[in-house]
Amino acid sequence: MRQKIVVGNWKMNKTYKEAVSFMQDFKLFVRDINNVEMVIAPPYTLLNYLKNEVNGTNIKVAAQDVFYEEKGAFTGEISPKMVKDFAEYVIIGHSERKKYFGETNQIINKKIKAALQTGLKVIFCLGESFEERNQGNTKTVVETQLREGLANITIVEMGSVVIAYEPVWAIGTGNTATPEQAEEIHIFLRQLVKDLYNEETSLNIRIIYGGSVNPNNATNILKMPNIDGCLPGGSSLDPGSLTHIIKSFS
Ligand code: PGA
Repeated sequence: MRQKIVVGNWKMNKTYKEAVSFMQDFKLFVRDINNVEMVIAPPYTLLNYLKNEVNGTNIKVAAQDVFYEEKGAFTGEISPKMVKDFAEYVIIGHSERKKYFGETNQIINKKIKAALQTGLKVIFCLGESFEERNQGNTKTVVETQLREGLANITIVEMGSVVIAYEPVWAIGTGNTATPEQAEEIHIFLRQLVKDLYNEETSLNIRIIYGGSVNPNNATNILKMPNIDGCLPGGSSLDPGSLTHIIKSFS
């Protein structure tokens, strides 16, 4: 049985004060939930606070990105080792990193490798654009992203990877993929993992969906057999909405 997982991606949102107010409510709301893995991905500036705040709860912390070098003259960057002090997970390959910061599949692969070697668990994002889907290229695109992103990642390391299918056209747009559209790609990705690794890995890996997930559509998306969780962005900023999404599993 794959444990369900919900990862709230705060993106570039929340000051310290706002995070404190969120956590006051959220910790209360989810204190009895233990059948879903709950992860919050705050900006770097809040990792230290979050780490202390979730101590003794079921809530875990993720960073939103990481650099692949271990240390040195890389102004503005954060290494996997630095993240490891505060977080169990790291999101890698988010489409906003590709769009605004020029991340390629090769860069993403280096980041995934470095993070896994440091002992971080990775939430590896991939997904097609609107044009790519319209041209009928969704599967080719996600296949290339998966193969290149996971190049040289071993079968053992795959035990620490979560794949997040996030169609770019669904992110922050309110246009969520239908449960059937998402499920089709999740099945395809699981089959690819089987081809690249083995059946056990493909059955164990969690594949989650991201893109305009909200309290109203979560139940229908999350009931699909190959969707093991979700990665809400906008809806994760409000403690009530995020809790509602997490509770959609029960
Ligand atoms: P959204 O973001 O829920 O605001 O669409 C999802 C994501 O980018 O991870």
